[in-house]
Amino acid sequence: MTGIEAFVGELNILGRSFEERIGQVASLDDLESFKVEFLGRKGKLAAILDTLTALPPADRGTAGKNANYWKNFFSEAIDARRTALNRAEANAELSRFDPSLPGRRPYPGSLHPVTLVTQEICEVFTGLGFEVVSGPEVENDWYNFEALNIPPEHPARDMQDTLYVSESIVLRTHTSPLQVRSMMSGKPPLAVIAPGKVYRRDSDLTHTPMFHQIEGLLVDHQVSMAELRGTLTSFVQQLFGASVKVRFRPSFFPFTEPSAEVDISCVLCGGTGAIAGAPCRVCKTTGWVEILGCGMVDPNVFKAVGYDPDVYTGFAFGLGVERVAMLKYGIGDLRMFFENDVRFLEQFS
Ligand code: DAH
Repeated sequence: MTGIEAFVGELNILGRSFEERIGQVASLDDLESFKVEFLGRKGKLAAILDTLTALPPADRGTAGKNANYWKNFFSEAIDARRTALNRAEANAELSRFDPSLPGRRPYPGSLHPVTLVTQEICEVFTGLGFEVVSGPEVENDWYNFEALNIPPEHPARDMQDTLYVSESIVLRTHTSPLQVRSMMSGKPPLAVIAPGKVYRRDSDLTHTPMFHQIEGLLVDHQVSMAELRGTLTSFVQQLFGASVKVRFRPSFFPFTEPSAEVDISCVLCGGTGAIAGAPCRVCKTTGWVEILGCGMVDPNVFKAVGYDPDVYTGFAFGLGVERVAMLKYGIGDLRMFFENDVRFLEQFS
């Protein structure tokens, strides 16, 4: 055999062994090593090609053409095998799919506990004839402070607590400006309830820069402190149950006179101050928890909105929604309201 005949003979032997084996390559991984074995830089075809330079120059063209023929043949056959293996894998996956399995239901969502408690509180008061109103969260200094008898030097206006947008515009620090807005846009008899977000420069375990309050206001001729007590007692008992005890404790707010804070018997320990012998962490063993501030509308507030304090009297109250929700649902950590963990939220659906 001459050199060229031996060269071509080697190629043909290689080609036949390739044809015999490619049909048995059963996985994509095996196919990759099979490709390296035949077409790799140190593979079997490359080994034969290395001998090409030993041929007489006149034969090298024929030798190269033959080698190229096999090179293309190998590449195409490997590609075709890869396609076939891919398809087989996809089919196998499909046969593992069980169309008789029940589907997964989409999670339907639920109302946030703050929304639920807000709705419940508003329902109690609309049942008593109050109207639900709302107002801006970005508020004028005048509505948020001045008209509510909070003069410029009052500590509540301190930069520490209030988030200022400009010198005369604030993020409302409470829902009490709704008292002013309601009185100015309406006329007595007036009974409104105003839920909404409020903002303070405060952030720790028990304070968040944004939280929710609900404000209430009733103005008419000869409204008395007794009516305030009756209304709020009825409200608290509708919310927490008829057996809950209520007490009014004298307090101070610039916009009410006299003012009081309302405590209820602790819903966690039932007012005993202890749970199974251990001190109650909610009421700190006192048996009472504070739930709202209230009072008779201060004459200065009436004057600010143009009402005659000799003609009209009224009561107002304000409560923190997160606080009520914590007591109502036994939630121990304020942060739960803002993390929006689905495992927490879905318990309220
Ligand atoms: N605005 C008060 C606060 O944010 C709460 C409050 C107390 C509202 C007494 C009232 C009230 O209407 O009469 O702390």
